[in-house]
Amino acid sequence: MQRINLAYEGKAKRLYTTDDKDLLIAEFKDDLTAFNGEKKGSEIGKGALNNKISTQIFNLLSEYGIATHLVRVLSENEQLIKKVDIIPLEVVVRNIATGSLTKRLGIKDGTVLPFSLVEFYYKNDDLGDPLVNDEHCLIMGLVKSENDLNTLRKLGREINSVLVKFFEARSLKLVDFKVEFGVDKGGNILLADEISPDSCRFWDANSNEKLDKDRFRQGLGDVKVAYEEVLRRILS
Ligand code: TMP
Ligand code: ASP
Repeated sequence: MQRINLAYEGKAKRLYTTDDKDLLIAEFKDDLTAFNGEKKGSEIGKGALNNKISTQIFNLLSEYGIATHLVRVLSENEQLIKKVDIIPLEVVVRNIATGSLTKRLGIKDGTVLPFSLVEFYYKNDDLGDPLVNDEHCLIMGLVKSENDLNTLRKLGREINSVLVKFFEARSLKLVDFKVEFGVDKGGNILLADEISPDSCRFWDANSNEKLDKDRFRQGLGDVKVAYEEVLRRILS
């Protein structure tokens, strides 16, 4: 499968068209961006690590019946994926309070939530990806129906249950994560984008050491070492 044209460039990936109109090639970049857009960096090999980590996680989830856009890995940095229309929502699932939840509501950092919280954020960089509720989503036409929102919530919770158990067995706490979904030409909702330490928070179960992008966001260093450790545990 050959790349034809660059169709889209995001912060972490480039998407290329192929000779099959229903398939794209996703190339994982080494760039890291912080939420305020001021700090920027890159880690050699980060793209290849996220490609491996995300592939393992997507394959695990598909064993549990979650439909994903992943077709197969093509190279260190490339995946072949199904073309979908991305639903412009970031679906965030949280098990432990930290990050923006702590800032917004003052819930103490590290509080274990009584049940998993699912939130929707409108994917719009100019607006800073604001938190939205169901009615915002419907009024703005971000999804077709209330039913789609319920499907996204259900998928978010299913993914969370599978991954919490998987990572618990590898001494990692899945603190929270962000997923994105797309609609394929048949109208099916597929898990899209990636699941990696760029889009999840992983804390070591014993030391609470952060093994994710917060190492970059908070200037803790050793970003690549942490991502390699996450991959090592996934493969263990
Ligand atoms: P937050 O606490 O900053 O809202 O982040 C919640 C989770 O979502 C965390 O695992 C990081 C992930 N995330 C992204 O992947 N992309 C984003 O743009 C944001 C804001 C969060
Ligand atoms: N808002 C994201 C972050 O928290 C930005 C990104 O993932 O590129 O780092």
